Amino acid sequence: MDGLNCPANLLIVSDLDFTMVDHDDPENLALLRFNALWEAYYRHNSLLVYSTGRSFTFYKELRKQKPLLTPDITITSVGTEITYGESMVPDERWKQCLDHNWNRETVMEETAKFPELTLQSERDQGPHKVSFHLEKGNASKVMEAISKCLEKRGLDVKIIYSFGIALDILPQAAGKGQALEYLLEKLTAGGLRPLNTLVCGDSGNDAELFTVPEVYGVLVSNAQEELVKWYAENARGNAQIIHATERCAAGIMQAIVNFSLGPNVSPRDISDSMFKRKNLSPGHEVVMFYLFYERWRRGEVQNSEQYIQMLRSIFHPTGKFLHPSGADQPMHQSIDTLVSLFGDKRGVDFHVWVDRVSSAETSLGSWLVNFDKWESSGEICIVI
Ligand code: GLC
Ligand code: MG
Repeated sequence: MDGLNCPANLLIVSDLDFTMVDHDDPENLALLRFNALWEAYYRHNSLLVYSTGRSFTFYKELRKQKPLLTPDITITSVGTEITYGESMVPDERWKQCLDHNWNRETVMEETAKFPELTLQSERDQGPHKVSFHLEKGNASKVMEAISKCLEKRGLDVKIIYSFGIALDILPQAAGKGQALEYLLEKLTAGGLRPLNTLVCGDSGNDAELFTVPEVYGVLVSNAQEELVKWYAENARGNAQIIHATERCAAGIMQAIVNFSLGPNVSPRDISDSMFKRKNLSPGHEVVMFYLFYERWRRGEVQNSEQYIQMLRSIFHPTGKFLHPSGADQPMHQSIDTLVSLFGDKRGVDFHVWVDRVSSAETSLGSWLVNFDKWESSGEICIVI
């Protein structure tokens, strides 16, 4: 967010589990397609926000397991914590806002009276979030009773039920929707209100996101029963909110098409994408190159001298790869290395993606492009 000096073209606020991340897709294909789209066309002028029910600790674990891009802003623990940037600087003012009419001890005391509730693990709890497991059958009755008890004790809380098992108790001012409204107000105050905002979710704790004024919304096709019910009761007539026919990240891309929010064809969906380039931008070039690199090493493109010649002609004769270690290599040498690697990852679950692509024109027509390049081979992820 710090780097942004004009309003974002698109602000995407997405839940993670079963929205951005499809845990039923071990190859993460839709996520990798989204990543390529984002880095090629949106990274430089848009904002990516993750809004998850996970605590900070569990969020970090997911980042290690899945090829998730680095977001600009991270909202954890069901909208109770907001952090900015790669170094995840916490928003202290937001925490203070949530102290109003909130007392964690009182919540613990009152909820102890309900045998139907099982406290979630210590690492799922937060200063402004008390979380339990609760069977579906009892849910509405128990939620109503807890709400009354806490009201009698003078607390103003929000009770949210997600994926038919998780119950969160939060301050009334918290939640994914409230956190987004806070963020939008903050951006607006700085003259940076995004041109478009798209919210994406799959379960009960995401419902609030769809109530934020003026946002576009997508329920991914695999949305949970409680969210689908919420949609049927509250939002079906609203043309700004769709229930996608595609799962997870593919559903997010479907919404980008549906609402005409910007470029919507992932470079991964174009064969020979390296050589079918229309609007050249340095970020776009890097995405295309590493996509070709992945396909080359997987042996999925033709091993042809013509491709290599085209690659050589695309790269400037004085172009260089600069490694963070300080070592550098002329691009033509890197191409020689690439030639020798053809098909070495054939049959392996090998994927390459780039993250945090940024570029600056250093002199007329010369660009310095910074990015993190990641590779995964089966279970192992390495950053290069
Ligand atoms: C995540 C959190 C859990 C919470 C649930 C629903 O799974 O880990 O604590 O109850 O989301 O918000
Ligand atoms: Mg989810």
